[in-house]
Amino acid sequence: MIVSVHKAAKLIQSGDVVGLPTETVYGIAADASNVMAVQKIFDLKQRPADNPLIVHISDINQAASLAETDSEDFKRLATAFWPGPLTLVLPKKLQVLDIITAGLQTVALRIPDHPKALSVIDEAGPVAAPSANRSGRPSPTRVKHVEDDFSKSFPIVDGGTCNIGIESTVLDLSGDSPAILRPGKITAGQIEKVIEKKVRLESTGEEQLRRSPGTRYSHYKPEATIQWMESHESIDQYRPDTLYIYHTFPIDKSRTNIVHFKKNYIDLGKSLYDLYRTADKKNYRQILIEPLMNTSRSDIIPALLNRIERSLSQ
Ligand code: TXA
Ligand code: MG
Repeated sequence: MIVSVHKAAKLIQSGDVVGLPTETVYGIAADASNVMAVQKIFDLKQRPADNPLIVHISDINQAASLAETDSEDFKRLATAFWPGPLTLVLPKKLQVLDIITAGLQTVALRIPDHPKALSVIDEAGPVAAPSANRSGRPSPTRVKHVEDDFSKSFPIVDGGTCNIGIESTVLDLSGDSPAILRPGKITAGQIEKVIEKKVRLESTGEEQLRRSPGTRYSHYKPEATIQWMESHESIDQYRPDTLYIYHTFPIDKSRTNIVHFKKNYIDLGKSLYDLYRTADKKNYRQILIEPLMNTSRSDIIPALLNRIERSLSQ
């Protein structure tokens, strides 16, 4: 059910959860100071309790009551990239609920770059908001996706199709040196330029698990199996039960099960989860993606690679 910004703020203030658009993906938001409301998010999503939530704020001044914000790195990054697709993990203040941080001593904060999300937060205060999908499903980038995972009667603010379509970069500023826990549109290079120091890229492993428990869970998975294309030999043998995703290979076939992004990686990012979900709706058995090289100069490539790798079928 589509609700207005004002209605969404009222619902949040009264302890309900609401679907909110952001520039990355839709979130499912609850009052960050209300334990019962935040618990509803975990119940609805069937999210494991040890996977912490991002607190979304609408003004940088709200950060100081939630986290230690004195560091030069924080000030520079927040100034450079907020509102925007960068989540900053900081030492938390006492008042942040344990249910939000999953018991960690840190809290993840971001200001989303979407006018409707900002208006709701202005009115309702900071909200805890993970992506508005059931756990293990691809993140939602349209109202329809949120309805599909929850229900038609679930309250959602309609913000159109998300501009970026891939979740925010998560940068941990709580350790000895800054570390990217999840790549996103804002790249390590962009961050390094602003803070004038090296940023580590956490892959998987003990260190990342300790810092970001959520990364142990399999994400972004549709029902269809996903694989990189191995070769183009079978070009004339397209299988009707397969969705083919290209970005460079010269092919002029146009069929509903062949999509081509013509090196437009921004569009690919914007459409990826929608394609995953569409594949399931149309009962495709597999999705084959033309291999992506990290050499293409688009900012979104490392994040795309990360999401696709994590959705591959073993
Ligand atoms: O773009 C986004 O970030 C979207 C929109 C709605 O803002 N949100 C989103 O939330 O992707 P979620 O819950 O699906 O992913 C949040 C990620 C998880 O991997 C979680 O483990 C990590 O952030 N995270 C949250 N709090 C953390 C903390 N205190 N320390 C380390 N990682 C944290
Ligand atoms: Mg998520």
